[in-house]
Amino acid sequence: MKFNEKFSKATAGMGSSMIRELVATTKGIPGLISLAGGFPSPDSFNKEDIAECYKEVVLESGNDILQYGASEGDAQLKEELIKWEEYKNMSMDEMLITVGSTNAIYYYAKTFINPGDVILCEAPSFLGSLVSFEAEMAELISIEMDDEGINIEKLKQAIADCAQNGKKVKFLYTIPDFQNPTGISMSAQRRMDLVELMAEVNIPILEDNPYSELRYTGEMIPSIFKIAEEKNLRGLVTLVKSFSKILGPGLRVAYAVSSEEIIGKMCSWQQKVNVSPGCVTERMVARFMQKDLLVKQIGIVNDLYTPYWEAMLTALEDFMPKTVKWTKPEGGMFVWLTLPEGVDADELFVKAREQKVAFIPGSKFFPKGQEQHNCLRLNYSYAKPDAIREGVKRLASIM
Ligand SMILES: Cc1ncc(COP(=O)(O)O)c(C=O)c1O
Repeated sequence: MKFNEKFSKATAGMGSSMIRELVATTKGIPGLISLAGGFPSPDSFNKEDIAECYKEVVLESGNDILQYGASEGDAQLKEELIKWEEYKNMSMDEMLITVGSTNAIYYYAKTFINPGDVILCEAPSFLGSLVSFEAEMAELISIEMDDEGINIEKLKQAIADCAQNGKKVKFLYTIPDFQNPTGISMSAQRRMDLVELMAEVNIPILEDNPYSELRYTGEMIPSIFKIAEEKNLRGLVTLVKSFSKILGPGLRVAYAVSSEEIIGKMCSWQQKVNVSPGCVTERMVARFMQKDLLVKQIGIVNDLYTPYWEAMLTALEDFMPKTVKWTKPEGGMFVWLTLPEGVDADELFVKAREQKVAFIPGSKFFPKGQEQHNCLRLNYSYAKPDAIREGVKRLASIM
């Protein structure tokens, strides 16, 4: 039996993930080097400590740990996170634990978007979030970036254009640290300018930040959330952070911080979608933090990835033609290449696959109708350093 004609409009409009489909076309090709996906290295998974913490939590926390839990998330984990992040004057009701940041972003979208509302995002941006905004029937307007992040003048122009055309802008979505897909980090000054502008025009910010701990050089930059906090603007910024890139995406643990009002609404969505996050895993992460394992883990992950990142940036210098430009990330997992005008990275993908190297064409990171084609994303967290170098060499040779 088929019921597709009964599907909701939002469901009927949904496609499968283009990136997953593309990556699937490279599976099983012997000797292929994939610089395409965004998976963390399995070598970053701390199985022993995670297993030990799980065991302790299940055997020592009492029966409640295997019962339904609190929709707002585990209090012990929240306590640890507030200490860890040094959040000032934050109550438990201003934080929500979620099943990965994907869920937090979805709840935020559910909280704000009516069909036809405008969401502003960076060009390019993380497709996983863009599709969840589109599923709520939002119109996406992407704003150019430079090497300091989103372009404030272009952002002002887009906001003014929306006002003139009677469009409602609901929020701005940004990934300020080691952005997926470009690797760009928004400068401190740009973050301050952004907070000032958005407070003035009264448009909230969704700050998605799964990569900030993966820093291999340079100084940490305060989150947009913290900058807004210093100006007493709680609620202007909702920050979402995830354990996926530090402990493992399979755990599905993340959290959001914002005003009590916004977190309360997001929590109501969580109640409907999930009842609660997985209690055992939440408490396992709390235990991991109580045992001071998180600092150690971040050190291990950064030591692991530093040679991967060096291999990528060195290989690009050594092999790429002069006409190709790329970003210079100080951490994270991705670098963004801009090819000469007229070169189509979607076509290059097919040729690259024949030469046994894979990447994600840049067009996949723009909202529909706003695609650019002379760009691509390379990942440096999965293939090993030698393979990264060889993969870049193969790619450069076909360029
Ligand atoms: C920018 C960005 N946001 C969110 C996510 C989803 O992360 P999570 O595993 O926490 O759902 C990813 C995953 O790659 C990402 O790159």
